[in-house]
Amino acid sequence: MLGNFSYHNPTKLYFGEDALNYLKDELQNYGPKVLLNYGSGSVKRNGIYDRVVAILREAGKTVVENPGVMSNPTLEKLNEGVKTARENDIDLILALGGGSVCDYSKAVAASVFCEGDYWDLYWLKQQNPPRGQRLLPVGCILTMAGTGSEMNAGTVITDAGHTLKMGHVFDDRLMPKFSILNPRFTMTVPENQMKAGIYDIMNHIMEQYFSDFDDNTSDYLSEGLMRSLIVSSRIAVKNPQDYEARSNIMWTATWALNTLIGLGKHQDWMVHMIGHSVGAWTHAPHGYTLAAVSMAYYRRAMKEGLPKFVRFAVNVWGVSGEGLSDVQIAEKGLEALKAWMQEIGLPLTIGELGATADMIDGITETTVVYPAGYLNLTKEDVKDILKESL
Ligand code: NZQ
Ligand code: ZN
Repeated sequence: MLGNFSYHNPTKLYFGEDALNYLKDELQNYGPKVLLNYGSGSVKRNGIYDRVVAILREAGKTVVENPGVMSNPTLEKLNEGVKTARENDIDLILALGGGSVCDYSKAVAASVFCEGDYWDLYWLKQQNPPRGQRLLPVGCILTMAGTGSEMNAGTVITDAGHTLKMGHVFDDRLMPKFSILNPRFTMTVPENQMKAGIYDIMNHIMEQYFSDFDDNTSDYLSEGLMRSLIVSSRIAVKNPQDYEARSNIMWTATWALNTLIGLGKHQDWMVHMIGHSVGAWTHAPHGYTLAAVSMAYYRRAMKEGLPKFVRFAVNVWGVSGEGLSDVQIAEKGLEALKAWMQEIGLPLTIGELGATADMIDGITETTVVYPAGYLNLTKEDVKDILKESL
């Protein structure tokens, strides 16, 4: 382990079927006005909204509702939430939904007291709010497993007008103060979103795992998480109502991106950069955009990061190296990854997501490119990856 790092994760988690019981206690730590952000109606249909509102009322809170936070939340919707929070003197932002609602809530929390153009400062210029700027506290009640947004400071916002999807990872002041994770709440997630979430989790781990060559505890943790995910995903795809599998997936999602397994590592994230751009153009579920570009990307990365890809094949997929060259072992690992993706029912091309050849230039243009993982891609390389993924 060669890197230097500091570690602090202030998010308090409540996990399991009883997790929502703790909301009442948490609410006591904040003032009376709660901005309740939620999505396009799933929480009303499955009854979680009613349960949460009843707890808020019982706790004597004034609830300001902000529904309609869409999947892949937009800048326009962010502006609306900031305005609502400013007008209502909010004390706590409560996110009720998936990663989109959690991300969005952190974005509002960061922006309410920003004196400048928050989109320009935080997402385009990648700055953090200055020390001393007030930030609203955020609590999450998570209804979908995938992003890890419940225990990180990430926020991904789409400027639909410019077909630009930009992520910013704030510092730990923007991590949720608490998150409530009841795997039972994820049971109503549509099958395609469950599968997208599963690949999002896998790819978060891979983005951190495929960097550097030193012996790092984080990589052993990553291998364990990937193996758990592979087992649970196979069960959940056959029987989405399997609580044990769904709870393992939810917990794996949190650990896949709560900063722990990236410690002391350079990390990659180029699959996410390309995936975000594909998402801005196709509006496809986030995890699907990652799946669709992964094989073309990792075939390239394998050449530069061969020892780690050999390790991935053997330790994650159980490939036997007997009589094979390193390249052959690594290739078998990627074949196993692809076979698992097919078994789960994930898209392997961006064409399946609605991308067409005439979009390739535009998707390339809006992809953020930097040296990462084992590669130092140019825009031309990104274009080739997209063409191969079509
Ligand atoms: O809007 P509603 O009606 O709630 O429906 C949602 C949405 O349509 C539905 N859903 C969620 N929970 C449900 C449910 N439907 C039925 N029952 C439930 N219990 O699922 C759909 C997708 O939800 P969304 O929140 O968009 O999905 P996800 O959790 O995958 O979040 C995606 C967003 O997170 C960003 C992505 O880019 C994307 O914008 N990411 C955030 C990250 C972070 N904070 O670190 C990292 C990720 O890499 C990712 O980029
Ligand atoms: Zn992701």
